Amino acid sequence: NHRNDLAGETVMITAGGTREALDPVRFLGNRSSGKMGYALADAAAKRGAKVILITAPTALRAPANCDVVPVVTTEEMRDAVLGRLAEATIVIKAAAVADYRPVMQAEQKLKRSGPLTIELQPTEDILAEVVRCRHEGMLVIGFAAETENALVHGRDKLLRKGADAIVLNDVSRPGVGFDSDRNAVTFLTQQTAIDFPEMSKRELADRILEEVMALRRPQKVV
Ligand code: PMT
Repeated sequence: NHRNDLAGETVMITAGGTREALDPVRFLGNRSSGKMGYALADAAAKRGAKVILITAPTALRAPANCDVVPVVTTEEMRDAVLGRLAEATIVIKAAAVADYRPVMQAEQKLKRSGPLTIELQPTEDILAEVVRCRHEGMLVIGFAAETENALVHGRDKLLRKGADAIVLNDVSRPGVGFDSDRNAVTFLTQQTAIDFPEMSKRELADRILEEVMALRRPQKVV
């Protein structure tokens, strides 16, 4: 029972995997189900926060008492995030954002005829833009999905992206990460690394929010 410990906070959460169209019927996507982001949205709303859930397509039912903003592409997610950023006191980026999009989008369904080469260009880094536009008192929490040297890459992402914390997902571990109902993560800040063992994403959501709220309290001087 966390009472209403997030009352007064407006938590913006991104969830799901963005999609980049190749033609009218095909897209480049990823295996994010949205479960982690939706679990965080549900947990934050139950703890009294105002929740803005910016979600790429998922098969999930939206949690109660959340302001749901549906998007499809990385650019749409970026516009939605930046458009509502002024309202947010906490931003949690659980979405798996496409890092590349096709340079050209075919107007008609592509026909099959021999090998096909698709040229890709990088998308905008939404997390970096959020950090650039952050206002006083806003907490910015990223996620990192890694398949090798998770801790090294997670630390690097924390420093490079300038977030207050990174929730590090070693997605090479069986049974956790993408699409699973369960997850195991490391909550990384510049000072600490807190390991959370495998548990349900909904349980983990509350544990993550506890660590986020701990960042609000004055840090102990050592
Ligand atoms: O959705 P589920 O099936 O429940 O799975 C959960 C999850 C594994 C998708 C989730 O927990 C997770 O790890 N999300 C982040 C996945 C990811 O894209 O990680 P990344 O290391 O590529 O990106 C790092 C951070 O930058 C993320 O917060 C991402 O939202 C952000 N990013 C990335 C690229 C980009 N162009 N813009 C961004 O803002």
